[in-house]
Formats: sequence, C-alpha cells, structure tokens
Amino acid sequence: MTRLPTNLHRLAAIACLLAAASAPARAADAALQVLHWWTSASERRAADVLARRLADEGIEWRDAAIPGGAGLGAAKVLRSRVLAQNAPEVNQIIGVSIREWAEMGLLLELDAVAANGQWANALFPTIHTLVRQRGHVVAAPLGIHRINTLHFNRAVFSRLGLAPPATWAEFEQIAPRLQAAGVQPLAQSSEPWQVATLFENLVLADGGAALYHELFVRHSVQALADPRLAQALLRLRGLKRWMGRPVQEQPWPELVRQLARGEAAMLVMGDWAKGELSDPRAGAADTDFGCITAPGTARYHLYSVDTLTMLAGDYQHSAAQATLARLIASPAVQAEYNLVKGSVTVRRDADPARMDICARQSWTAFGQAGAQQVPSLVHRMATDEASKDAIVAEVHRFFSNDEATPADAQRRLAAVFRALRSRTPQ
Ligand code: BGC
Repeated sequence: MTRLPTNLHRLAAIACLLAAASAPARAADAALQVLHWWTSASERRAADVLARRLADEGIEWRDAAIPGGAGLGAAKVLRSRVLAQNAPEVNQIIGVSIREWAEMGLLLELDAVAANGQWANALFPTIHTLVRQRGHVVAAPLGIHRINTLHFNRAVFSRLGLAPPATWAEFEQIAPRLQAAGVQPLAQSSEPWQVATLFENLVLADGGAALYHELFVRHSVQALADPRLAQALLRLRGLKRWMGRPVQEQPWPELVRQLARGEAAMLVMGDWAKGELSDPRAGAADTDFGCITAPGTARYHLYSVDTLTMLAGDYQHSAAQATLARLIASPAVQAEYNLVKGSVTVRRDADPARMDICARQSWTAFGQAGAQQVPSLVHRMATDEASKDAIVAEVHRFFSNDEATPADAQRRLAAVFRALRSRTPQ
C-alpha cells in the first residue's frame, strides 16, 4: 500500500532510484500491487508476461485487475484508493491522465531508469514526450495500439468473393451482400466507449486530422458547426443498419468471438482485438483474420499508448518500481509482451520482420513517413478524463436515440465544449 509523498521523502527517493535503476530490488521491496484493466484472455497473458519477468528479478506482481474495457472502472477505483491512502504502487495510467496525476505530485520520477536505458534515443519521439512531465520521466511505456483498425474474418470474405472495404462507400456496397448471406456486417456494442471508438474513426475518415484535433483536443465550438461533423454523426446512425438489432451492450471480447465464429464479418476496434482473435505466436493473426486500416483512415495512425506509472508513496517500493520500469522498456520484454497484447513496441530499434502483418504496418506507420499520428479521444490520448467522459456521453446519447438530430448533438456538444474551454487555458 502506498501513502502520499512528502518533500522530505523525495530526496531519499532520488538517491534510492539512482541506485535502483540498474540493480535488482532489495528483498524488502519484493512485492508490487499493480492496478490495471487487462482482464480478457489475451490481456491476461500479456500481463502474465510482465509478472513472470518481474518474478525473475525476485519481485512479486500482486494483481489488482479491474474489469471494464478502456479502463472506466479502473480509473474510478484508482481515484478512490488514492483518496483512502491505500493506493497500489503501480497503476495503468495512460495519455493525458499521466499529466494530471504527475501535476498532483503523485508519480515517482523515473529519470535514472530512463537515462540508463537511453529512452531518449530508444523510444519514438511521441512516446518519449508522452512519458515526461515538466522534464521528468513519470511513466514506463509498454506498447502502441492502433485504434483505426478494421478486423475482418477472412473465411467469410473469401466465401462470398468480397474484399475488405478501403472506404465507407465500399463498406456500404458490401454490407448488403454480407447481410443477405446471413452474416452481420459489423460487430458493435452499445457500450459508450465502444460507440465512441467507432465515432472517432468516422470523424477522422470524414473530417481528417485537422477537424479531429479542433474537436477533441481543442474543444473548438466553431468546429462543431463543420458539416463534416454532421456527416460523421449521420454515418454513425446509418451504420446501425449493419449491426445487431437492437445493438446490445456487450464487452469487446464478446464481439471478437462473434467475428471469430463468422457471425459478424468486421469489427472496428483497437488492435488488442487481434491478440484476442488468436494466439499471434501461432500465426493465425495473418491467416484466419485480417486487419487493415479502418475505412477512409489509411493516412492516419490513431493511437493509444499503454503505460504503467509508479505512485511515489513513502518510497519503500522505489527500487522494485524502478526495476519494473526498466524491464518494461527493455527490448526483450517489449518484443514478448507486444506479440501477445496485439500492440507494437514503443522502441525504434525493433525488427519488423518478426511482427505479423498488422503489427508491421502499425509500427511502420507510427514510426516512419506515410501516416500522421492522431491521439485517440476514447483512450485518453487527446484530452483529460472528465472531458473525454463528457464527449463520449454525448456521442452515446445521439447513437442511442434515433430521434436525436445531428443539430441536437452539435448543440449539446457546444454546451460541453464551452464548459470545458472555460476551465482550460488555451
Ligand atoms: C488499453 C488496452 C486495452 C483496451 C481494452 C485500452 O484503453 O490501452 O491495453 O486492451 O483498452 O480494455
């Protein structure tokens, strides 16, 4: 259990971290509670990779997994445990949330670990920026997920002689043929974050990265009047035709199973779905299921980066926390973990030849020319937790109520944006 830091403890911690950056943890530090939201089978396997590597160093991974895709439950549990002075030592805090927690002075600085591991050179620049706050490294990066991914069942497509769609217009051409063959064209849950995941893909496809940024990073009220936003809203509504009727609230691994059984042909979901579809080590990721960029988004890499942060606490666990951070970014753990998780390594020095097709495309697009990086709204890369929740709720409200018009949604979002902008320095 971790208590909140005092300034006196900080000096001691820096000395401790310098010593711990490359040395194994002392016996007294030999257990870490880890709060995260990896509860599907493949997510579990990926967490187990980390737990095993930590055990090799004599440190026990005490698992505190909180179910709930995209970490809605985990974020709430973390807040209440911090308030109760009972916070886990390690937490899955990602994206803009890292900044929020670091600003409160709650995150352990990992500068010595990062310097020893040469993170400044080894990591993609976007990742190196993401894990730092006010010049200090405060998070350990695990992997990069691509949110603009269309997963498809190869057997269904080849049986019907169809090719996966590169645009939403192509999608509309093949969807009736899938439906006529008794296959649901698009797997989709009504869970708000899953609806918003589809929606952020549609905004990117219909509006491009500049409009996306104005809306989800800057919360620009003017951008809400852009007709391309109305178009994306209408497209979201229109796609309901190709989903289950009614669209049910289901956890994302259930949608993956529908795709795997061939009941549904396609799924727009982050590439953690690939980890779940098959054991990528067996190569099925490339043979039974395909993944391409979501329609209309080939030019973009809509990303979410997983990170673990260490709560500063009373610094009793600093050595063990530093060891975990060091392991996480090491080439060996990066390769092993990301293969199972469906994400790609945060390191620039990886070998793409060892990746499946989907991962190779994602890693290459993220790191090299050819695709523009776009931060995911739903996965906290674009804005803070409260703003994200407010926007996701409005998108979900529009999706659920067929009577609501795009103008209604734009009006409601304008009220949300005004409230958000009044508290955010521009
Ligand atoms: C995380 C992934 C996780 C997914 C589904 C995302 O926010 O980055 O690691 O697999 O949520 O829960």
